[in-house]
Amino acid sequence: MDKLKVLLTREQIAKKVAELGERITHDFEGESVVLIGVLKGATIFLADLARQIKLDVSFDFIAVSSYGNSKQQSGEVKLMKDVDHSMEGKNIILVEDILDTGLTLTYLKNLLLGHQPKAVKIAALLDKISRRTQPIRGDYVGFEIPDEFVVGYGLDYAERYRNLPEVCILETDDQSG
Ligand code: IMP
Ligand code: MG
Repeated sequence: MDKLKVLLTREQIAKKVAELGERITHDFEGESVVLIGVLKGATIFLADLARQIKLDVSFDFIAVSSYGNSKQQSGEVKLMKDVDHSMEGKNIILVEDILDTGLTLTYLKNLLLGHQPKAVKIAALLDKISRRTQPIRGDYVGFEIPDEFVVGYGLDYAERYRNLPEVCILETDDQSG
């Protein structure tokens, strides 16, 4: 049986997402932004964040290979779905559920820089800073969290738990990961 322990309540998340939206609104005043969500984990964060940004906002989505059914990162990032539109001259905000090793966002940031955008920023709800292997930082980070495997608010374990309104620490019996 999986055990779930609440780490961040829906109130804590909502308050933080509103703050991030305000910062983005302020930083890009008078401009438009494209939110690029990293499928599928970022969808719920993107939906809430977008409604806190008082600017001209459009969406795009990108997908990369993920952990599969394991808690371990393979170390390899593979593009499964590219953006639908050219990002030339755009203010891009890459929206991700969590910054862990940083491999995914390093890869995606480099990919998008190839589009000659005006700016590329990173919004991540969660940051496991102690796990970082790549020199990359989030520009709009919700919460720094300890090195625990978390689920909910978009984050999954083998595609489950994305619909939990809280962010929870998951303890499984499966010690092999
Ligand atoms: P990175 O490339 O190591 O930074 O990993 C980022 C991706 O790993 C995220 O988009 C998540 O899909 C996944 N990930 C990392 N930590 C967790 C976690 O605690 N729970 C669920 N997914 C995670
Ligand atoms: Mg993800």
